[in-house]
Amino acid sequence: MHKNAFAIHGDIVWSKNPKELQTVEGGYLIVVDGISKGVYPQIPAEYQGITVVDRTGMLVIPGMSDIHVHAPQYGFRGLGMDLELLDWLNTHTFPEESKYANPEYAWRAYQIFSDDLLHSATTRAVVFGTMHVDATMTLMGKLETTGLKTMVGKVNMDRNSPDYLCEKDAATALEDTKKWLDEVEDSHFENTKPILTPRFTPTCSDELMEGLGKLRAERDLPLQSHLSENLSEIDWVKGLCPWSTCYGQTYEHFGQLAGDQPVIMAHCNWCPDNEVEILKENNVFVAHCPQSNAQLSSGIAPIRHYMDLGMNVGIGTDVAGGATLSMFRAMADAVAVSKLRWRLVDQNLAALSTEEAFYLATVGGGKVFGKVGSFDEGYEVDALVLDDSQIKTPLELTLAERLERYVYLAEEGGRIVEKYVAGRRVL
Ligand code: GUN
Ligand code: FE
Repeated sequence: MHKNAFAIHGDIVWSKNPKELQTVEGGYLIVVDGISKGVYPQIPAEYQGITVVDRTGMLVIPGMSDIHVHAPQYGFRGLGMDLELLDWLNTHTFPEESKYANPEYAWRAYQIFSDDLLHSATTRAVVFGTMHVDATMTLMGKLETTGLKTMVGKVNMDRNSPDYLCEKDAATALEDTKKWLDEVEDSHFENTKPILTPRFTPTCSDELMEGLGKLRAERDLPLQSHLSENLSEIDWVKGLCPWSTCYGQTYEHFGQLAGDQPVIMAHCNWCPDNEVEILKENNVFVAHCPQSNAQLSSGIAPIRHYMDLGMNVGIGTDVAGGATLSMFRAMADAVAVSKLRWRLVDQNLAALSTEEAFYLATVGGGKVFGKVGSFDEGYEVDALVLDDSQIKTPLELTLAERLERYVYLAEEGGRIVEKYVAGRRVL
């Protein structure tokens, strides 16, 4: 008899590959010690007698990985969507992030963010905090208790930032970062891990960038930042780093891309070929954030091109550039902007299908965390049980159609009934 084994019984859908879904109606997803032993039409003899969670008639799909989201921007989501990136940062984002110097504000705001993330479709997330050590520890503590698996970064920014939200100098920034990493180590979080977070090249001095590159190597840490999101930003980087061959090289030059721990670069809307080469060589994850890119008029990333090259790609909500934590909405937006790009920019790059967007949101982004985002044997089981019965239709739908419709209509009567992370029920 297997210990720590159970099955989820329902209408099971996951990605077979980027283009195809795998479906088992009335199937059994077998979970042992948090790991998938596969999906079967009947419980295999070997697993007879294990607990069965009976969710007959409900959809069971892998959890989503939101690989780029700013927790401190959750408070002003849906506001100030009328500006481009650099003005938006100065007008809305930096003033809001400065409030996290206040522990009481951070506590309240991060409680709301953590609660809402727990109730979303996201099972794993790669998260920006602010530059404040105490507030970032508060955020990590709250995310830890949700049971979601997260990587969280104390943000670094020591130049070209307003006085009220700027680290004093590179030495202070690096000292604070080490202090934060030591506090995290002492906290022995099981679910929440640290990730180095230079905000982006414009707000990080060369000395700080170099120090963070060294820290990545010394402590074997993952790293996240922003890359080639907006044309004014790219021009600015050219001016700040005249020695660089491209924006991406400003991270590579300081040792921030090399290494085994994942690197996530948000956006990558305007990468020249040599930058794409750098990303590919270093197995960098592109965090595609379609809603943010539309709201801030930033551009449309050539995700088809990156997928054709076999690069690592996942999806991010980029709240508050994106207004919502919904990864279903993010998938639908990824498909929509890819169609506009095909129509208006480059008819050589075919639009993404819903299946491909689903793959990116589950398997693609899940790779940041290891074997995550699939129900194939050997994957950690992150799963959502979805009730789609209130998204009404007279049609008889296949499982694939039910999933497709859920992606587009999740907010119109869809309900997340249960949520599992690495085989543990969190909701
Ligand atoms: N680039 C630097 N900071 C930010 C941010 O907070 N949001 C987005 N979308 N881009 C950034
Ligand atoms: Fe961002």
